[in-house]
Amino acid sequence: MVIRFPELLVAKKPDSQFLERARRAGKSGIKGICLVGMGGSSIAGEMCRGLLLDQSSMPILMVRNYGMPNAVGKKWAVVVVSYSGDTEETLASFEEARSRAATIFVVTTGGTLAERSQSLSTHMVPKGLQPRAALPLLFSAVHPTVEALLAHETTDLEEMSRSLGQQAQNWRTRADPPSAMAEKLMGLMPLFIGWKHLVPVAYRAKCQINENAKAAAFHSELPEADHNEIEAAVSYRKHSVIPVFLRSCFEESSITKRFDVTSEVLSEAGCGSIHLRIKANSALEESLAMTHYLDMTSVELAERLGVDPLKVDRIADLKKKLAAYRSHLSPLS
Ligand code: F6R
Repeated sequence: MVIRFPELLVAKKPDSQFLERARRAGKSGIKGICLVGMGGSSIAGEMCRGLLLDQSSMPILMVRNYGMPNAVGKKWAVVVVSYSGDTEETLASFEEARSRAATIFVVTTGGTLAERSQSLSTHMVPKGLQPRAALPLLFSAVHPTVEALLAHETTDLEEMSRSLGQQAQNWRTRADPPSAMAEKLMGLMPLFIGWKHLVPVAYRAKCQINENAKAAAFHSELPEADHNEIEAAVSYRKHSVIPVFLRSCFEESSITKRFDVTSEVLSEAGCGSIHLRIKANSALEESLAMTHYLDMTSVELAERLGVDPLKVDRIADLKKKLAAYRSHLSPLS
């Protein structure tokens, strides 16, 4: 599934009606955009927010919870993403957005969400993947939708898919392909640190190591981490934490300095770090290519740890237990 990342980015585009409706909503003077989703289905929204917020004329909120912030109402666009269509937090937020008469766009494979959104703009994506592996499919729906809402030109994802395919070919000639990165992470707890559009990529990497390799991983962001987390550097060795800096080709010189000085301070505290760089022509290509690379790293790590990257037994078990709890409560509620 991870190998198919570039191909999945162009496997199912949203139809022109769906995007036209987003363009019309954007022109109608909406006050903001609210992106909704949990886990693997939230990453596309997080990445779009990281990429588009700076040029956005309106707030872009991300909701990973039950319900909607109070500010979200009739003049808001809400993009609801759930791969299964059955995630309870996402369904609760969807219902709340509906009750507030927001303009809703749904991206799903089916489930309760598809049933309940029949009269709305719904983009159906193919079933059969793990939600987290469906990121390119979900991204290829959410990104043009947000671009349309913002009245931006839509980015050519066909071209992007080709570049990502080429980037993956080039892993072979890198000194540090995903397999080498996985080797470096063996027995360590990675702390992925991003800046700007690479903050969601750091978060995604953490989640992929958690879900695919069943291993502990963390994420944070610069410059914020320099105001708190950096003090913990003296304990990193004891806890086998390895900071992995996600470096951008688009760092401003002050940010480059900050990454370098942060790394120096960590090293003086006895903690080594890894710097990951990927050549890219745009922030979008950098976000996707680095995500693809780190997704592959998580699978390589799973293989080395002898765990099945596909299985998410604890997530499934937890969902089952909560569903049983809900059905037990429902006669009273
Ligand atoms: C499983 C995964 C999870 C799910 C999450 C929400 O591969 O990545 O994080 O994405 O439990 O479920 P969906 O995506 O179906 O709304």
